[in-house]
Amino acid sequence: MEKREGDNCTIDLNTAQSIKPRRNTGNLSNLNMDMQVTSTPEAAALFSLHQAHHFGEFECSSEQHCKQDLFPKWHLPMKIASVISFLMFIYTSLRDVIYPFITRKENAFYKIPILIINKVLPVVSITLLALVYLPGILAAGFQLYSGTKYKRFPQWLDRWMLSRKQFGLLSFFFATMHACYSLCYPMRRSYRYKLMNWAFQQIKQKKENAWIEHDVWRMEIYVSLGIVGLALLTLLAIASIPSVSHSLTWREFHYIQSKMGYLALLLCTVHALVFAWNKWVDVNQFIWYTPPSFMIAVFLPIVVLLCKCILLLPCFRRRIQKIRCGWEANTQTNQTSITSRL
Ligand code: HEM
Repeated sequence: MEKREGDNCTIDLNTAQSIKPRRNTGNLSNLNMDMQVTSTPEAAALFSLHQAHHFGEFECSSEQHCKQDLFPKWHLPMKIASVISFLMFIYTSLRDVIYPFITRKENAFYKIPILIINKVLPVVSITLLALVYLPGILAAGFQLYSGTKYKRFPQWLDRWMLSRKQFGLLSFFFATMHACYSLCYPMRRSYRYKLMNWAFQQIKQKKENAWIEHDVWRMEIYVSLGIVGLALLTLLAIASIPSVSHSLTWREFHYIQSKMGYLALLLCTVHALVFAWNKWVDVNQFIWYTPPSFMIAVFLPIVVLLCKCILLLPCFRRRIQKIRCGWEANTQTNQTSITSRL
């Protein structure tokens, strides 16, 4: 090992060969300054070596950066959200805009920016929320079927389970937009014109009171449920921020994400069911033989909630708890058969 003493720094040439490129350019520039003061040929060689390392690092890192995946965990949730949004937009536009245009020559295109969008948003939001809890149910079913927690889940289920946080955050995003769109309904000029027209028709019919008791209750209940549902989703979103989740114990985190999450899903589903009210039995809702959007919206959440209720039955719950504590169905049978033979 050859050591040379410079004016300001001691340079170890062998170790210099193994200097790894660092991302801290501040340190490197300090080193360069030190070396510029040193006038030995070795120092000059080391300086040019460093320069090469320096630029090499930038070339390499920019290449690596280009190769790096952008938001890898968001790919699946974003794709699913985009596909559902697109399909729902087409579906709702056909029912609410194209159908009146074709059958009655009625121009309802004004509905697209707010009313149609505000049918797409809640459907996507509640479906994504159901997709947060569906893999947990599938995983429980898988464990019940295989009788052990040591068997690996299929890869697609693993991937889905790992992106539940992103599904939940996207659901929250869509729900917030839906709340904003809903709350601006009365501000719209189309709404004011419709209100005036209703009032005028009422005067013509000599009706003094337009109050419909069950409609009033319907709206009070579903808006209130929507607000509470959104508040719970906000809590879930806050609890998923790393700094907040790290301050919680596993049990607290699990309690919030699981129990409160299911409660949010239940409230949002009831919100949609109460919104629909007696439209469930109204055949006029089936335009071109297609079901209304609220039926599509509540389908998956109801399936998830029903499956959860089934899994909460004592026979299934106890078995899942045992499996998750390490009990294995096959081993147990084997052990029982060995014991009985002895
Ligand atoms: C502040 C909170 C909320 C308010 C004010 C609100 C308000 C509304 C309103 C006014 C409608 C009727 C929309 C229409 O006339 O087309 C509606 C429908 C609906 N909302 Fe909400 N909502 C809220 C939160 C939520 C949340 C958190 C979810 C679920 C994630 C949700 C899911 C739904 C669904 C599925 C429908 C039925 C949409 C359809 O198919 O027509 N809402 N909500």
